[in-house]
Amino acid sequence: MQYRKFGKSDVQVSALGFGAMRFPTKDGHIEEVEATQMMQYALDHGVNYIDTAYPYHGGESEKFVGRFLSDGKREKVKLATKLPSWLIEGATDFDKYFEEQCERLQTGTIDYYLLHSLNRNWWPKLRDLGVIAWAERKMAEGRIGQLGFSFHDGGDAFQPIVDGYDWAFCQIQYNYMDVENQAGTAGLKYAASKGMAVIIMEPVLGGSLADPPAPVQRIWDGAAQKRNAVDWALQWLWNQPEVTMVLSGMSSLKQVEENVRSAENARVNSLSAEELAMFDAARTTYQALRPIPCTACSYCMPCPNNVNIPRNFGIYNKGKMYDKADGARGEYAWMSQELKLGIATIDTRAAACVECGVCDAKCPQQIPISSWMPVVHQVLGEGREYQSRP
Ligand SMILES: NC(=O)c1ccc[n+]([C@@H]2O[C@H](COP(=O)([O-])OP(=O)(O)OC[C@H]3O[C@@H](n4cnc5c(N)ncnc54)[C@H](OP(=O)(O)O)[C@@H]3O)[C@@H](O)[C@H]2O)c1
Ligand code: SF4
Ligand code: SF4
Repeated sequence: MQYRKFGKSDVQVSALGFGAMRFPTKDGHIEEVEATQMMQYALDHGVNYIDTAYPYHGGESEKFVGRFLSDGKREKVKLATKLPSWLIEGATDFDKYFEEQCERLQTGTIDYYLLHSLNRNWWPKLRDLGVIAWAERKMAEGRIGQLGFSFHDGGDAFQPIVDGYDWAFCQIQYNYMDVENQAGTAGLKYAASKGMAVIIMEPVLGGSLADPPAPVQRIWDGAAQKRNAVDWALQWLWNQPEVTMVLSGMSSLKQVEENVRSAENARVNSLSAEELAMFDAARTTYQALRPIPCTACSYCMPCPNNVNIPRNFGIYNKGKMYDKADGARGEYAWMSQELKLGIATIDTRAAACVECGVCDAKCPQQIPISSWMPVVHQVLGEGREYQSRP
């Protein structure tokens, strides 16, 4: 196993971290026999960091990790979990969730505590409720080791959060397809330049890059060094000096064995120029599979009816590019859930489009947006077949 220095601290963490969000399941519950073998294999091969969170596996992940670590393994790993930002309604909730998490995890100390999934709405909410003073008290008491946050939003929301506190670390969605999405490469470099440890999540885009379509597979097949698609995706991350650790959510023992093997070969700046060019080719090849040539420039925004045009197009495209129509439909359904959970205050789905056409003339790609929107809703919201034109 390779180890890397954790930000400004002298702690050495394994290049591969165990993401406790994708355990194998049976009848909707974690399949604990295999999940135990998976975690044990990872620990036996040098993984020393486990990342869980309050909602993973409907709350089962923290409890399972707590049971797994309870027989003397707790001291062997760095344990990370996250405050569920969206459930916080008042300052007393900080203690309420923290203590519940410690109980679930059978520990008095969380080594790395994150504010979960910060975005432009939840960071100001938590900040104004006094989360930093609360967390600093917990750090002074020795209950929290280091404070960080995970991030999901557009890149413009990242820097203000990074600059909002002297964080020890952050966790960002990053992979060779997301160089300009979410925090992106710019966010990675910015956080690292401030001395923060940067933990990577969704390195294989939640599994989307694991089983590539033929044109992308041909790129990997053409490489002198033979690696599978996941190994290439992981090596692209470890190649970057700003990356502290790559979290992988693994759903079988075989995946753990493969990814541990990949991590053993992980080196900074070890990919050749030819190899790096393959990732650009893979990205371009994936992008050519998008039915809608949207670049997410947002020139068409705002829509007078609140439709988030680039987000809807992004979800639609992902379903086709990665052959994951069900995943795209789930993401679209999540936009309705956001309303129900109070995460969003307005419906930004394609369903809200009234086909007024105000946006059409603003698109530099000349996308007939008002014609696409009903199609996007029919496919993602009503389960119709994918269309390649409106
Ligand atoms: N803080 C947040 O907001 C947040 C959000 C997302 C994730 N996370 C954390 O970050 C961790 C990593 O993210 P992620 O789980 O999305 O990671 P990921 O590595 O992008 O996706 C995990 C999926 O990739 C596939 N995979 C992994 N290794 C493979 C292999 N060797 N061969 C074939 N397929 C492989 C599996 O898909 P199949 O199961 O389909 O085989 C697995 O479930 C999570 O587990 C979680 O701890 C945090
Ligand atoms: S056509 Fe639809 S997406 Fe475009 S501005 Fe009108 S309501 Fe918004
Ligand atoms: S203007 Fe066109 S390319 Fe830009 S976000 Fe809107 S639809 Fe996408």
